[in-house]
Amino acid sequence: MPPRTQVAIIGAGPAGLMLGALLARHGIASVILEARSRTYIEHRIRAGVLEQGTIDAMDEAGAGARMHQQGLVHEGTILRFGGRSHRIDFRALTGKAVMIYSQHELVRDLVAVRIAAGDPLELEVEDVTLDGIETRKPCVRFRRAGQPHELACDFIAGCDGFHGVSRAAIPADRLRVFEHDYPFGWLGILADVAPSSPELVYAHHDRGFALLSMRSPSVSRLYLQCAPDEDLAAWSDDRIWSELAIRLGADDFTLATGPITQRSVTPMRSFVAEPMRHGRLFLAGDAAHIVPPTGAKGLNLAIADVRLLAEALAAFYGRGDATLLDAYSELCLRRVWKVERFSAWMTQLLHRHDAPPGAELGHRLQLAELDYVTSSHAAATTLAENYVGLPLR
Ligand code: FAD
Ligand code: DHB
Repeated sequence: MPPRTQVAIIGAGPAGLMLGALLARHGIASVILEARSRTYIEHRIRAGVLEQGTIDAMDEAGAGARMHQQGLVHEGTILRFGGRSHRIDFRALTGKAVMIYSQHELVRDLVAVRIAAGDPLELEVEDVTLDGIETRKPCVRFRRAGQPHELACDFIAGCDGFHGVSRAAIPADRLRVFEHDYPFGWLGILADVAPSSPELVYAHHDRGFALLSMRSPSVSRLYLQCAPDEDLAAWSDDRIWSELAIRLGADDFTLATGPITQRSVTPMRSFVAEPMRHGRLFLAGDAAHIVPPTGAKGLNLAIADVRLLAEALAAFYGRGDATLLDAYSELCLRRVWKVERFSAWMTQLLHRHDAPPGAELGHRLQLAELDYVTSSHAAATTLAENYVGLPLR
């Protein structure tokens, strides 16, 4: 008999680790299989804005202590265009706020909780394959240190990101895919310098979008719109800082510079695969959908999926009730599409679109929309309620 568990979780990103932690709280056993090493997953620089629902999930997982100590609560954000700043006051408009806390710190906290509980986390596994997902006895096969292993389970959670194997295990004729690749990307940097603004600045500029964000009172995170295949070698530190200073420029603003400690180019994509369930396989997070990062939603959407999945599995194991499992895909997708909409809208609103004809008209329409969003209470509320996070259902 191969070893068995209740839920086999593929991937130890935010989705997989959070699912494992929430299941443990309900007394449901899981094994997490991860292709990378602990050092790798704990240092992968990605998102940094947490919605209230993500903060609540960290607390429920028993992993929130460091986040509350070190996270920075932000009650608003700045939209900058035409060289002027306009604040969107999340607290006044929605009663809510967001928290700045790095994705890799969240991963570290969830790994620590898992290891302290002694729950299985198999790292550096290879050749993961999913079997029998259309039966009541699915099974995951993999290799570790060259040795073959087999894990029998009741359910498989595909939390292995966009390039994982889980989505591909669903027969192509059962999956519908919606996809758009944007004709631009983000050049992102981390720098050892205090953030030049107490709140994030989303800047619309003739030369392209720029974003000022942060990780702590002494570390800044900044992004510049660039080509999707931008050559990083063409960007000296000086060029990066001077381009950021131009695009983020405003009368009352000076951009402080410092040593750049990390840099990368991220392509931008909108992607949804439907349905998010096939037989006993449930997809969650980037395995099922991708948003362009402009609304800071990717990580939060992944956590929202697994909150619903954990609740559904708890109902199944606790009361023998499969209603929520059956509704999982539909419930998630209703929210996913709204977040896709918001992310695409923020992206379209703030980026430079070069494709003629109509580029000049499009540019003026963007400025009119920015003016509207920052002067109409109703429009500002729409932005704010999406940014702080829509209800789980
Ligand atoms: P992931 O974090 O991708 O985790 C999947 C895990 O599965 C990984 O650990 C991977 O190693 C593992 N895995 C993959 N294949 C296998 C396999 N075959 N077997 C076992 N394990 C496997 N979002 C924002 O909101 N703001 C940002 O600024 C931002 N920046 C980003 C920058 C980059 C470069 C990327 C790629 C994404 C960024 N995102 C950002 C999106 C956000 O980080 C993701 O939405 C989030 O990581 C999704 O979490 P996840 O757990 O679903 O997937
Ligand atoms: C960050 C990333 C985002 O995509 C965003 O919209 C805001 C902040 C960040 O990495 O800090």
